[in-house]
Amino acid sequence: MNKSISPLHHPMKGTIDIPGDKSISHRSIMFGALASGTTEITHFLKAEDCISTISCFRQMGVTIEEQEDCILVHGVGLHGLKRPLMTLFTGNSGTTTRLISGILAAQQFDCTLTGDSSIEKRPMKRIIQPLSMMGACIDSIHHNDCAPLFIHGTHLHGIDYTMPVASAQVKSAILLAGLYADEPTTITELVPSRNHTELMLKNYGCDITTQGHTITLKPGQPLNACKITVPSDISSAAYFIAAALLVPGSLLTLPNIGINPTRDGIIHVIQSMGGNIELKNKRLSAGEQIADLVVRYSTLHGTVIEGDIIPTLIDEIPLIAILSAVSKGTTIIRDAAELHYKECDRIEVMVENLKKVGIHATAESDGMIIEGSHHFEGGMINSYHDHRIAMSFAIAGLIAKAPIHIMDADCISISYPEFFTSLEQLAHK
Ligand code: S3P
Repeated sequence: MNKSISPLHHPMKGTIDIPGDKSISHRSIMFGALASGTTEITHFLKAEDCISTISCFRQMGVTIEEQEDCILVHGVGLHGLKRPLMTLFTGNSGTTTRLISGILAAQQFDCTLTGDSSIEKRPMKRIIQPLSMMGACIDSIHHNDCAPLFIHGTHLHGIDYTMPVASAQVKSAILLAGLYADEPTTITELVPSRNHTELMLKNYGCDITTQGHTITLKPGQPLNACKITVPSDISSAAYFIAAALLVPGSLLTLPNIGINPTRDGIIHVIQSMGGNIELKNKRLSAGEQIADLVVRYSTLHGTVIEGDIIPTLIDEIPLIAILSAVSKGTTIIRDAAELHYKECDRIEVMVENLKKVGIHATAESDGMIIEGSHHFEGGMINSYHDHRIAMSFAIAGLIAKAPIHIMDADCISISYPEFFTSLEQLAHK
């Protein structure tokens, strides 16, 4: 499905409810499955990626009930998963693929795991290597360090591992394997990545501590089911934050947004670009910080984004590139080589598409340079089936000189199925 977004000639005003956080939704199913008792999840993200996680655990014998306003996961305990009868299919979801591998490595059965054509190109050596150090037996079936993976479940040992790249998926795969190891697992991060796994496992009763950049998990504790209210996803909120900043006269309120400091880089960058964003009613919900965000139309200027902030906004960089294109001056993004390994190569694809709509941008090996002070022309962009590329250019379309057509825009269902409906509702208010 292609989608056209036409320029909006009036402000966006009102309150918008943003769906649940994708990272936390995945983890709530996984940890709930491994716990004893029933985990009740409210504000779960019913998007394709999280549905892939549900379907993998159902295939391993976990009963997961989808009720109107909550999900019930009937945990089977750490040792209760059953051998799936078929290959586990993780769809487009890197989080499902990498985290579940850590669990599968420690089971008393073998299985095969794969996903869609994007997943089959994404690097898996980053999990195969540390999990193998723990004793795991994981084969990349085509010998290319990508999925499909054959995972031969076995007995695991704890490791002391320093992360070569900042990746919450890799860190979480190791921690989940560590639940089954015969001694503690210690991970040191040079640059911290999102810490939902650590916060959530603690709530499930796991013995896990973080000191500075070092996390230690002591195995042997069962996980106990709990109630989880998933905060609204800051990565999804980001599109509407950007819409409010860019469409003249706009004022949007976004309640209950997760502002975990390992995820809130987008807020700091917007503030450093001169954006008017207020955080109201800051509070804690099951260890996660949340707040209501109020965003007003603003005149933005370019900035430099580099270093330790990168992992805290990694999924928002395509959207930051859109904001940068219409900001005063040049924006430089560095230290973000990880963008090459996302759902598509987000450096190459952003630069290619920005050029198609009249923006001067240059791809660098670890980021991009975007010349600001421009207007988006209309045009056709290729999403390459990447949800974040599609949504980023939808926001550009709101302020373009002519419609922006987005190829394969239905990929937004991977993280935000209601995106276009919400955008249209706000646009026509
Ligand atoms: C995620 C971690 C990040 C992020 C992804 C979700 C997670 O990936 O880009 O969208 O839920 O752990 P990396 O671990 O590859 O940085």
